[in-house]
Amino acid sequence: MKIGMLTSGGDCQGLNSALRGVAKTLYHELGDKATLYGIRDGYRGLIEGDYHEMQPDDFSDILTVGGTILGTSRQPFKEMQKAAEDSEETKLDKMLETCKKAEFDVLVILGGNGTHKTANLLSEHGVNVVTLPKTIDNDLWGTDLTFGFQSAVDIATTVIDSIHSTAFSHSRVFIVEVMGHKAGWLTLYAGISSGADVIVIPEIPYSAEKIAEAIESRAEHGKRFSIIAVAEGAISREEAEMSKKEFKAQRAAMSYPSVSYRLAAELQAITGQEIRVTIPGHYQRGGAPCPADRLLTTRFGVAAAELVRKKKFGYMVGLQNGGIVPVKLADVAGKLKTVPPDGEIVRTARALGLSMGD
Ligand code: F6P
Repeated sequence: MKIGMLTSGGDCQGLNSALRGVAKTLYHELGDKATLYGIRDGYRGLIEGDYHEMQPDDFSDILTVGGTILGTSRQPFKEMQKAAEDSEETKLDKMLETCKKAEFDVLVILGGNGTHKTANLLSEHGVNVVTLPKTIDNDLWGTDLTFGFQSAVDIATTVIDSIHSTAFSHSRVFIVEVMGHKAGWLTLYAGISSGADVIVIPEIPYSAEKIAEAIESRAEHGKRFSIIAVAEGAISREEAEMSKKEFKAQRAAMSYPSVSYRLAAELQAITGQEIRVTIPGHYQRGGAPCPADRLLTTRFGVAAAELVRKKKFGYMVGLQNGGIVPVKLADVAGKLKTVPPDGEIVRTARALGLSMGD
């Protein structure tokens, strides 16, 4: 069986441990009946026919290694049915050609939302595909957890913990901007885990006045510092009312590098207090996977290899209610899993007296 593997989209912790889980299981169960190929830089390698045969040793000693041994790139889904560079063929045509030429029996694809749309497109065009859910954003539909998320929560939590102590010493107000794209999972989990005082997520549009009230109320109760965890995708109440077009224009005209700096200026104007901003950025995606992600990726890897072995194609492996289950690709593609604004985790934060910025 010829198995092509690729990692696509933004990297995260656990990609290598997931690849290892798939490969080890296939070599263990199929022996020399399995030949694995590494496709370079995600769909770029599939488009350009950039792949190479891998050996069992390639998957040794990578359980704890960050990033991806295969490399990755972002290849927007909306470009897939457009002509490839210097060619009349589309990127999709090129990928189908590579699959045919390489005689891949199946592609094992590790990625997030955009990656899954393309994986589904390939599947609709007759390619056998099995996928694994990767992203620190945890915003993939059909799985309770994506891998990378728990490691990123660990890092974002550690960052906020460190900011906590310096904010306390200097009696300062800090905003820590957390990644997560258009979903607030990472900010919510890290915010609660680090004891942030205000948590601002895209799913709950914020009011600068309400956040200022929360800071001032803390000060009145003798708390001279505050920590505000802000998701990079946070939006104000006014922005929530705008059309997509108006919102885009508003953000394009924004003179701040990110929403956190704008919020800091707003809060500064209301409270008269200096507001500091810290952005850990890609630090949240780097380094070794945490043990929980090592376990999750190993479970996902073994389950994906089982689907390959049983020739059950067109599925993503997902975590649901504690168990690993196959989820139809067509059901996953194009759907975003966002934080339910009145769900249990948000209610937990509110029960503690935390402000959600609304
Ligand atoms: O999807 C993962 C993620 O880290 C998001 O949280 C973030 O918005 C985005 O990728 C950053 O992308 P890039 O690395 O391409 O700048």
